[in-house]
Amino acid sequence: MPAAVIDAKLHPVMLYIMIALLALVADVPRAVAQQSATAKATPSSLDVPQLFAGTCGWCHSDAGRSPGKGPQLMNSPRSDEYIRMRIKLGKEGAMPAFGTTFSDADIDAIIKYIRSLKPEHG
Ligand code: HEC
Repeated sequence: MPAAVIDAKLHPVMLYIMIALLALVADVPRAVAQQSATAKATPSSLDVPQLFAGTCGWCHSDAGRSPGKGPQLMNSPRSDEYIRMRIKLGKEGAMPAFGTTFSDADIDAIIKYIRSLKPEHG
């Protein structure tokens, strides 16, 4: 009976459920935004000091504080962009490229580490 079907659609409980569902759907973008904000705020899990103790320290001595086979990184006059590109692309015959090793967040963490380097006392 078509009339009964229409009645059912307009039933207050149905209406209530529809409103509840709409509220849920409306909430999705907020939930997604919250999630991506968390993802953005999540720092790289890279242990940069450990990285410099091993991989980078072969050439950037004293965890980047002194020149070695590579230049000293502490107090680097280079721009963040220059540092990012050097780490990504390396330099033929001088430094390996790490573009496939590190995410952008990892490289952000490395740049932050380089900028925070202070001379070691003692
Ligand atoms: C095999 C030696 C070697 C290793 C390993 C190495 N580097 Fe280098 N790096 C160099 C050399 C040599 C240069 C100078 C290249 C040039 O002439 O521009 C350099 C340049 C750089 C620069 C630019 C500094 C400047 O003032 O020009 C940064 C930043 C850097 N390296 C970071 C790193 C990081 C981070 C790692 C580890 C993930 C690393 N390097 C591993 C040899 C190395």
